[in-house]
Amino acid sequence: MALLDKHKTIEKNATLLLVGTLLVVSIGGLVQITPLFYLENTIEKVEGMRPYSPLELAGRNIYIREGCYTCHSQMIRPFRDEVERYGHYSLAAESMYDHPFQWGSKRTGPDLARVGNRYSNEWHVQHLIEPRSVVPESVMPSYAFLKETPLAVDTISYDLTANRRVGVPYSDEMIASAEADIRAQADPNADTSGVLARYPKAKLGDFDGNPAALTEMDALVAYLQMLGTLVDFSTYDASADYR
Ligand code: HEC
Repeated sequence: MALLDKHKTIEKNATLLLVGTLLVVSIGGLVQITPLFYLENTIEKVEGMRPYSPLELAGRNIYIREGCYTCHSQMIRPFRDEVERYGHYSLAAESMYDHPFQWGSKRTGPDLARVGNRYSNEWHVQHLIEPRSVVPESVMPSYAFLKETPLAVDTISYDLTANRRVGVPYSDEMIASAEADIRAQADPNADTSGVLARYPKAKLGDFDGNPAALTEMDALVAYLQMLGTLVDFSTYDASADYR
């Protein structure tokens, strides 16, 4: 009975009730937040993830500039219908180098998280030039100008530097060779051993169907073709510890 009386006092005194509530809420908050200060990383690392190659990063910049994310998500949720349509659900680690992330919130078109390797380069170029020539009922706009627009390569090292500032592990060597790498990855005659050593599994060669020119189409298709291809899901084990 005594305890009940004490509680009544708290209930009848607004200040006391406020102080008591704040006390309880802050204890609850601390219990949730304190462990995070002692964790180096809250994202589980997964084998295969690496920063974007300079060409892929340039393509990603174009993807953002053109607002592709307003119609396309890059986030496969762990539901049966999504996994059967698009492939393995997205892992947190797969967007750990994304600044900003491209999860999206609208699917006018399909999710693109695993579109890499699904179509040929020629299909992508044709589709981006005139979507309705390959998918007659498509409402996607045409991006034909990308094939006529030379890719700006002289600023790419700044992009890598900016990404490094926010935590992407680009090395000095990667930044120094960014301009050479962006050209080499899209040049069928270039020595690409450096690109592959720095960016394993990078797709190589001419992407836009015109080996003589390095265009924004090259960069965008290189980006689309690598989406979802870095983690090998035939060997991925969700219960393994990759730290
Ligand atoms: C107005 C909405 C809209 C915008 C903006 C848009 N798309 Fe699409 N996209 C669609 C629709 C709808 C489809 C499905 C029909 C088709 O394949 O064309 C599609 C399909 C695709 C596909 C084929 C996916 C698959 O699995 O079959 C790719 C790749 C793609 N879009 C890339 C892009 C890129 C890159 C951009 C930006 C340059 C972009 N889209 C902008 C609506 C859009």
